[in-house]
Amino acid sequence: MRVTLKKFESLRRLFKKKSNWQAFDRKTVTIEDKEYTVRGIVESDIKDLLTIEREVYNGELPWTRSAFLSEIHSKNPHLYILILKEEKTVGFIGCRVIEHDGHITNVAVGKSAQGQGIGSYLLNEAIQFASAQGCTQMSLEVKLINKHAQSVYRKIGFTSSKITEGYYDDGEDALEMILDLSNG
Ligand SMILES: CC(C)(COP(=O)(O)OP(=O)(O)OC[C@H]1O[C@@H](n2cnc3c(N)ncnc32)[C@H](O)[C@@H]1OP(=O)(O)O)[C@@H](O)C(=O)NCCC(=O)NCCS
Repeated sequence: MRVTLKKFESLRRLFKKKSNWQAFDRKTVTIEDKEYTVRGIVESDIKDLLTIEREVYNGELPWTRSAFLSEIHSKNPHLYILILKEEKTVGFIGCRVIEHDGHITNVAVGKSAQGQGIGSYLLNEAIQFASAQGCTQMSLEVKLINKHAQSVYRKIGFTSSKITEGYYDDGEDALEMILDLSNG
């Protein structure tokens, strides 16, 4: 009996955890007086995500279609969401949970939509997701030369952790930044 109860309890926890991260309900949000729709990313969205990447990274694609595919189908708890303005994708974020760390894997906002609070909104969604998964910290890597993105992260509370020289394919150095979630 005890064994059965234990088994039931672990199954219940498994389902509880799964349902936390598998479904992200489509919702309407207001950011700086403008209305947007936020929903989970599906395979057919990848084309639009690559278009945003090409635009914001000057023609380069840090993430390929297959990188997006493996992330959105990963068995690890993850959050991959995009934000739409009048049905057009204007930004997206990815977050992967490994043990107690919520790692921001990718975040980008199309040029014409930048500076309107969308990046901060997406980061806060990822933080809420990671907190709900029991994470005690968030982490991310950003190019050391990408001072703008760093200032957005700092405003949210991320602090610099360490520099990894030559981390990126183009030889650029990475700055790791972390956000402590241990105080709730
Ligand atoms: C980094 C990025 C995701 C931020 O998204 P965003 O929607 O522009 O961010 P927000 O509008 O939430 O801006 C947050 C803060 O930065 C400020 N800011 C926004 N755009 C700015 C700009 N072009 N120059 C200076 N400051 C800017 C805002 O004033 C805001 O500050 P506030 O909260 O005090 O008003 C976005 O700029 C982007 O996609 N950049 C290119 C891709 C990239 O570098 N990704 C990160 C890789 S690690």
